[in-house]
Amino acid sequence: MNISVVGTGYVGLVVGACFAETGNTVCCVDIDQKKVERLQQGDMPIYEPGLDSLVERNQKEGRLSFTTDLPAAIALAEVVIIAVGTPTGEDGSADLQHVLEVASLVGRHMARETVVVVKSTVPVGSSAKIERAVAGQAKFPFHICSNPEFLKEGDAVEDFMRPDRVILGVRSSHARRVMTDLYAPFLRTGKPVILMDIASAEMTKYAANGMLATRISFMNEIANLCDRLGANVDFVRKGIGSDSRIGQSFLFSGPGYGGSCFPKDVKALIKMAAENDVPLDVLTGVDKANERQKCLLLHKLRSALGQPLEGRRIALWGLAFKAGTDDMREAPSLTLIDRLLEEGVSICAHDPAAIDHARVLLGNRIDFAETNYEALVGADALVVVTDWNEYRHPDFERVKRTLRQPVIVDGRNLYDVEKMRELGVRYHSIGRPSA
Ligand SMILES: NC(=O)c1ccc[n+]([C@@H]2O[C@H](COP(=O)([O-])OP(=O)(O)OC[C@H]3O[C@@H](n4cnc5c(N)ncnc54)[C@H](O)[C@@H]3O)[C@@H](O)[C@H]2O)c1
Repeated sequence: MNISVVGTGYVGLVVGACFAETGNTVCCVDIDQKKVERLQQGDMPIYEPGLDSLVERNQKEGRLSFTTDLPAAIALAEVVIIAVGTPTGEDGSADLQHVLEVASLVGRHMARETVVVVKSTVPVGSSAKIERAVAGQAKFPFHICSNPEFLKEGDAVEDFMRPDRVILGVRSSHARRVMTDLYAPFLRTGKPVILMDIASAEMTKYAANGMLATRISFMNEIANLCDRLGANVDFVRKGIGSDSRIGQSFLFSGPGYGGSCFPKDVKALIKMAAENDVPLDVLTGVDKANERQKCLLLHKLRSALGQPLEGRRIALWGLAFKAGTDDMREAPSLTLIDRLLEEGVSICAHDPAAIDHARVLLGNRIDFAETNYEALVGADALVVVTDWNEYRHPDFERVKRTLRQPVIVDGRNLYDVEKMRELGVRYHSIGRPSA
């Protein structure tokens, strides 16, 4: 099948590469000329495990190409997938500007019957607007499909290749047939395609992210209460996670959720509800709790080192919003860094993947280290912000030796409290006893 993917970001690139991997001819389009040139030269603009080899192989075998020439790409396609960004607008709603722009160009340049797939996360009712934007220009029949994406950055290829389910919001039998056919190679283990109306497909994406964000904020608040009451959130998590009605996933406490999806999708859902006079008190609380949680590590640091923090130097392990990605969008590290700098603290940070993106965002406001141990030199404390694998089992003697004093504030509960006590580390984590 000939597929064009418009928007070659974290989602579009993964989707394009994975559809090429199953034998389709895929053309990925982006307006960012630099990004397209890099991709044409085999240089990946993002870090995503397994994606580089997938892109390289499919490019070499002629199934995957990159272009800025949207009209040519659309004219060839039987399926056009819109995967451009839908950032938070000024009032908290999802900004549809890029999606609608692309939709009318798709309409103008399509040269045959086409399935127009909305993969960008868009509020309920947006696909109808997109359909109107395409129809305003189209000279050929087309079929709208809402196909929200559930991949996780850091595991994106695996998630796309082996989805738990595929959601298809369709009206026409042509769209249903084409899309179920397209996804069939990914669903050989029997995971379902769930067919529904378009509005329900759009809502499913927001409800999924809202639910996951709720679990995170809920566990963060329980952990904060554990801190105060002397309970240990590790036991509590295992205790509740073993209940099959609850399950183990998304129960780890941390420095707040970030990334390109949860913060913006929670805000957009709240906005959608407000516009329709429907109270969404749970999610409003989730959002508020998350903003508060992003300051938790600062408070922990203050109580570990005493006030004021001015003049201190802090080693920071992890900048990306989570392990496995270089994505810095809404990363809790950014809030922490801003607050620490305001208090006159100097920072040396390490991240295995996100340094390049961080340099663009932070310039020379902080120092960057080549290795995680180098970040510790001359620091009064180590703060672990992202749970990268390489931070899970460091040489603690070396950490102790290099820091000016053995203080660790662990925002991901990576280390064993008892072990830290034995090592003589002053250790503060989230919802667990301090050492
Ligand atoms: N990142 C995720 O983990 C994830 C997961 C599921 C769903 N989503 C949703 O998918 C959508 C895309 O997210 P992303 O993280 O890939 O965004 P991104 O910002 O990484 O990529 C968007 C790309 O679209 C390009 N673009 C913008 N306007 C364009 C235009 N007119 N023509 C061509 N290209 C254009 C940009 O240059 C950029 O490369 C969003 O709606 C997001 O909410 C994201």
